[in-house]
This record gives sequence, C-alpha cells and structure tokens, in this order.
Amino acid sequence: MCGVVGYIGKNNAVPVLLSGLSKLEYRGYDSAGIAVYNNGEINICKTRGRIDDLRNKLLSAPISGNLGIGHTRWATHGVPSDENAHPHFNQDSKIAVVHNGIIENYLVIKEELEAKGYKFLSETDTESVAHLLDFYYEKEGMDILDAVFKVIERIEGSYALGIICSDFPDQLIAVRKDSPLVVGLGKGENFIASDMPAILNYTRDTYLIDDNEVVVLKTDSVTVLDSNKNEVKKEVFRVDWDVEAAEKSGYDHFMLKEIYEQPKVVKENLSRRFKEDGTGVQLDSIALGKKELENINRIYICACGTAYYAGLIGKYLIERIARIPVNSEVASEFRYKDPLIDEHTLMVVVSQSGETADTLAAMRLAKSKGARVLGIVNAIGSSIAREADDVLYTLAGPEIAVASTKAFTAQVVAMYLLTIHIAQELGVLDTEKFKELKSDMEKLPSLVNEILTKAPRIKRFMHKYINSKNVFYIGRGLDYVVSQEGSLKLKEIAYLHSEPYAAGELKHGPIALIEESTLVIGVVTQEELFEKTVSNLVEVKARGARILAIAMEGNKEIEKVADDVFYIPRTHWMLAPLLANIPQQLFAYYVALGLGNDVDKPRNLAKSVTVE
Ligand code: M6R
Repeated sequence: MCGVVGYIGKNNAVPVLLSGLSKLEYRGYDSAGIAVYNNGEINICKTRGRIDDLRNKLLSAPISGNLGIGHTRWATHGVPSDENAHPHFNQDSKIAVVHNGIIENYLVIKEELEAKGYKFLSETDTESVAHLLDFYYEKEGMDILDAVFKVIERIEGSYALGIICSDFPDQLIAVRKDSPLVVGLGKGENFIASDMPAILNYTRDTYLIDDNEVVVLKTDSVTVLDSNKNEVKKEVFRVDWDVEAAEKSGYDHFMLKEIYEQPKVVKENLSRRFKEDGTGVQLDSIALGKKELENINRIYICACGTAYYAGLIGKYLIERIARIPVNSEVASEFRYKDPLIDEHTLMVVVSQSGETADTLAAMRLAKSKGARVLGIVNAIGSSIAREADDVLYTLAGPEIAVASTKAFTAQVVAMYLLTIHIAQELGVLDTEKFKELKSDMEKLPSLVNEILTKAPRIKRFMHKYINSKNVFYIGRGLDYVVSQEGSLKLKEIAYLHSEPYAAGELKHGPIALIEESTLVIGVVTQEELFEKTVSNLVEVKARGARILAIAMEGNKEIEKVADDVFYIPRTHWMLAPLLANIPQQLFAYYVALGLGNDVDKPRNLAKSVTVE
C-alpha cells in the first residue's frame, strides 16, 4: 500500500528518487520521504503530505548524494504525520529503512527492543525493522548483510524493504516478501522500485524479485541471494511499455486519459486473441484444453473491487454460454470460508495489479488444495502472474489512476474471450455463432469511441445531478453487475453515497429510501429484461425519484419514464456491459471533478492494496 524506490550510482539520487516517487504516488499519498547518504552520514527529509510537499521541504533544506531510498505512504500503523513518514532510522542514524507491507509481529519485537533500551519515535511497524537491524548489526556485531538475513528470520508479514547504512556507502540492500519489488539495471547505476513506472525513465532492463530474495545493489553490480544466501541467477526482464504510457500526455487526469485509451485497449486484446483462420480464440499459451476442462466441475472467480465485478460478468457469461457452474467470490471472504476446492476446481483470479493481498491469498489457498489457477492480470511479472498456472494478460498498459477504468474494460474482454474459449472447447458454441460474436466484438473499439464522443452530454448530466445526496444504481442480470461497478466508481472518486441494487430487490426494502429527487441510475441494456427493469423505474419515479437511464439505442420506450437517457450503440447482449460502463465512468469522473475532488488520488485509497 506504499511505494518504495532506491538509487545507487554516480548521479544525485534526489531527483531520481523524487521522480520515482511521483510515479508511485498512486500507491499511497499521505506522506513521503527520502534518505540520502553523503559524506559519511545519512540525511532524511520526510513530511506528511504528498510528493510536492516533500519537494517544497527539500527546497528549504536541500540534501544530495549518490545513494538513497524513498517512500510514499498509505498509512496503516499510525496516522499520516512527519514522524510516521518513512524512512526510519536506527538509534544512531546509521541505518535508514523504507518499507511497503505490514510487519505483523512488530509489537512483540518492539516490546523486546524497548526492554533493551531502544526508543521508538513513530507508531509504525517499520521502525521495529530499523531497530532490530541496529540490534544485530551494532550490538551483536554482525555484518550488515547477515543482520538483514537475521531480521527477515524474525519478522512476519509482508515487506519490500530498502535499506542503506552509512558504514556501507557503496551498497543498497533490498528485500522482498509478499510485496512487489523490481530492480532496474542501469549503466553505472541501479534502482529498486515497487513498480516499473518509477524506473522507466532510466532503464527498461529489470529483475523481477521473488519472495524471500535479498538484493545487494552496487553502482556496477546487482547480486540476488536466496534465503540460504546462495546467489540466484536472474533473467533480465525487458519492459516494452512506452514511457508515455505512464504519463498524462496532455490529459487533465490519468483517469480521463485511461478512459480514452479504452478503444485501443479493447482492440489490442482482441487482435491478439482471435485466431487468424477466424474459427476461434487463442488465449496465449494457456493450457486449458478440452481434456483439462472436462476434468473441471467447479469454477471460482475470485477478485476484489472492480476486478470482482469483471469476474461477476464472467460468471454470468460462462454459466449462460458454457453451462458450467461458477461461483464468483470476493477474495477477502473466500480465503476465510473454507471453500470446497479440489483438483477438479478451476480457480480464476482477476487483478489489475497482480499484487492484491486478498486475491493473492485466495489464489494460494486454492492452489494448495489442488485447484488449477488461471490469473487474469494486467501487471506483467506481478506475483499473481508468476504464481498462477496460466496467465491471461489484459494488455491495458499501466493504469495509474486509483479508480480502475481501462483495466476493468480489459478484464471484461478477457471474460468474453475465456467464455468463448471454454464454450468452444466443450463444444457448446459452434463456429457460426462464434463468427457472429466475433464480428460484433470487432466493432467494440469504434463503439467505445462513439460513446466517448458523447462525453459533453454526460458532463451536462453532471451539472444537473451533482447535488444528489443519495444515488441508487439499479439493473437486472448483467445490467445489475454494471450498476455495481458504476456505484463503486461514484463512491470512490465523487464520495457520494450510492447503492447498487438488483432492480427486483428494491421493493424488498430499499425502496423505502427513495424520496423526492433521489437520483436513480437505471441500467437497462439487456433487452429481455428491459420491461421488468422499466417497471421498477416506474415504481421509483412514482415516489419522486429522478431517473437517469443507460439504455440500448432504439429502446425509446425508456424516455417515457426517465428524466434523461444515455443511449449506448446497439450491440450483442453479452457485449453491452462493456459499453454501458463507459458513460458511468465519465459520469463519476465529471461529478468528482465538479465537486473539486482529487480524481486520480481519492481520499483514503491507494491503487494497489497489498495489505489485508
Ligand atoms: O489490482 P486489483 O485489480 O487486484 O485491485 C482490486 C481493487 O482494489 C480495485 O479494483 C479497486 O476496487 C479499484 N480502485 C476500483 O476502481
């Protein structure tokens, strides 16, 4: 839930660290800090607030040096404050530590160290690492690297750590367990970071660090050690994204840029996955053929947040088209419910970051019980991507805005492809039907574009509805899933209270909340359920609600009940959720903007939830 960076080389570390941190700010943005070695000592500058606050603080008290570590924080232990901001020092300020993750047994360690006379200056779990290192290095006289190994024997939880010590100005040490960490390989300089965008301005050659590995970076070398201190030969992983992929490129916000990238993302996913002879789909090198699928009698799709809703669309489609029972589960619940899993289970996990702690844990649980795991992942080389048996990458490129947009769309496309693949392998989707579907899918990029050209209309809705205090999103079937995603987006960035409901459920309770001017967003793109949902809209209208509907072109009947209608272009029923969600994204974006919120970095949130 935080971002760490580190630099060792011939240049001044400070601009490198600040630039890296600004690319990681999506991971946490309530405080930031850097520690830089210079002339025998380590100087720390840290502050509550954002990277710009750190920059300002550095203007009045500049520091510099060729070795440094940095951190952008999303508070877990202790409020956002200067004291709790990372880096943290040991007792005599010789060792500085940055950390992403949670040290679960820090209280025990803290008590033990306090009994030995250590004084803690912050409320963080991380400070216990700095003092424990101090204990093994300074008091027990261990070599610094041995002290690091000793510390990781003692600490429990998740961590990506960056460590510098003023007695070793020629090295930066990094450690990873259950929190992402990459090493950037430069010429005469090397880097660590929680995510690729932080180092892309400097190098595209990376090492993907695995759990329990310890890395020693020097100016001209990088050594990776396993938990037995044996050297690990890593393969260089070359990142092929454009640097601009992680830049705003003229858009006001990353979220808006990412919304507008969706036609390209859909096209990329489809063009790579349709077989050249037009008879089916090819899902990279996924080994889920007829034989494996016939062995499967249960599918779970597990994820969190927006990715969970993409998975829910997968459930509806796989059950309806491929006729296999699918449980779609929130990963944080799934992992503690003793789920029924065996070697006949296919576990599909969906994640943009590939690092979400609950999704990762759910995946590991399923794997340990013999399930076959398919990861639908955006971040290349992420933990889920590496640990899953098969991976289907969603090819959305880096998604920086905390609110997921293009990654969701890409996940929905992945669900379409997976459904088709399973149905074809099991012989329940014939080539003719596939060809019709393919032709409709190929129109999706231009249909998304068509919706985007109508953004000004959605902006007008924003002006009309921005003062709503409570918003209901309702729909049936796939429209209900779309409603859930729309509601989440509005909560997340506009901070408006909104509830998604299966339209048929309203009269079982929630309709009591409808009063004069309550905004109800009705998603009515599923034509076979159109009349049913319209009846529910009529019911809320009769109780004073204002209705904004999202319908399929041609279904003009909706105008009799709705105050406003946004029409999506006509498409296959299965593809409608992808299109219906685009106006919802824009609506949430404009409302958030209109309310003066920080669209890309909404309060209390972080992009990647690597803690439970
Ligand atoms: O990286 P993941 O896809 O695993 O993240 C899952 C959720 O945390 C994420 O989708 C979250 O709900 C988004 N901020 C929603 O916009």
